[in-house]
Amino acid sequence: MHPESVSNFWANAQQPLMILAPMEDVTDTAFRELVMRISEPGNLNVVYTEFTSTDGLCHPEGRHRVEERLKVSRSERELLHEHNVKIVAQIWGNNPQKYAEAVQYITSQYDFDGIDINMGCPVRKVVAQGSCSALINNEALAGEIIAATKEATHLPLSVKTRIGLGKVDTNRWMSFLLSQPLDAIILHGRIQKQMSEGQANWEEIAKAVQLKEELAPHIKLIGNGDVYSFEDARHRVKEYGTNGVMIGRGIFHNPWLFNPQKAEPPVEEKLDTLLTHLNLFEQNWRGIKPFAILRRFFKIYLAGFPGAGNLRADMMQVNNFDAARKSVEHFKHKKLAMPNNA
Ligand SMILES: Cc1cc2nc3c(=O)[nH]c(=O)nc-3n(C[C@H](O)[C@H](O)[C@H](O)COP(=O)(O)O)c2cc1C
Repeated sequence: MHPESVSNFWANAQQPLMILAPMEDVTDTAFRELVMRISEPGNLNVVYTEFTSTDGLCHPEGRHRVEERLKVSRSERELLHEHNVKIVAQIWGNNPQKYAEAVQYITSQYDFDGIDINMGCPVRKVVAQGSCSALINNEALAGEIIAATKEATHLPLSVKTRIGLGKVDTNRWMSFLLSQPLDAIILHGRIQKQMSEGQANWEEIAKAVQLKEELAPHIKLIGNGDVYSFEDARHRVKEYGTNGVMIGRGIFHNPWLFNPQKAEPPVEEKLDTLLTHLNLFEQNWRGIKPFAILRRFFKIYLAGFPGAGNLRADMMQVNNFDAARKSVEHFKHKKLAMPNNA
C-alpha cells in the first residue's frame, strides 16, 4: 500500500473512539469478527490484534507461528470495511532494530490501519527482559523504539501503556510520551505492580488528559480500565475528557456490549452466537490452535438462563468442535421441546 493512500484514522476521528482492547488468546480474527457481527455499526471503531513479538517476526523459521496473531480472515476484512472499523497491529519487544524490521515486514505483507507498541504488559517474564511495561522506566530505550518504528512505517503510531511501573508516575511518563512522534496513547489506569488488581485510577487518566491539552493536543488520549458497559464508556469520555475508551474484560461480561440498544438476548440467540463462535474458530484455527482456548469463552454465552450451569459444565468436558456443537444443539432441542419454552 502506498503512503498517500493511508489516512490517519486517529487524527481524523470526529467522535470519541470506542475500542476493543488487545487480549492474548482472545482477540483473534474469529472473536473480533464475532464481536463486530453482534455490535451496532458505528459503536465499535477500532480493534486490535493480540500482542505480537518483534523478535519472533524477525525470525524467518519461527515467524509463521507468531504471525497467527496478525491473521485477518477474509470475512473479518469484509466486516471491517462494512462497519468502518479500523484494525491496529500491536507489537512488543526490546530491540529498536527488530521493531524496524518487524514493522517493515508487517507493512509490506499486511493491511493494518495502525501500529501500536505495547508498553503496558505487566507480566514478569517480559518485564525482566526490559520489554513492555519495563519501558515506562527506560525513556531512552522507549524513545529509540518509537523513533525506529516511526522511521520504518507510514502507518499511524500509538503506544498502549500504564500510569507507572512500581509507583504512579503519570506526570513524568506522560510528559515524555507526549513529546514523542505519536498519534495516540492508550492509558490503562493501573501501575505495572498492580497487574489487574485494585481499581483503574481514572483520576490519573484525567491528569494525563490535562497534560496532553498543554503539551500535545494533536495526540489522541484513550482511557482504559474497568469499563463494563457502553453507557459507562460514554460517561467516562464526558467525565474525564478522553478521546475515547478501550474496553477489554467487559466483553466477557457482555459480548453485546457495543450494541447498547440490545436488551438481554434470548437463550436461543446466546446459543446461536456460541455456535457462530465455534464455527469461526474452526474455520480459522482447526489444526493450528488448541481447542482448549475456546473454553474460556463458553461462560460468556452460557449464563443467565435456566440450565446454563449444567450446559457450561458439559461443555467444559468436550474437546472437539463436533462434540461441542452436539451439546449445544441437544440443549437447544430439549429446551425448545418444553411446553412453555422455559
Ligand atoms: C486475557 C487478557 C489478555 C490481554 N492481552 C493483552 C495484549 O496482548 N496486549 C495488551 O496491550 N494488553 C493486553 N491485555 C490488557 C487489556 O488490553 C487491558 O488493558 C486490561 O484488561 C484493562 O482493561 P479492562 O479493565 O477493560 O479489561 C490483556 C488482558 C487480558 C484480560
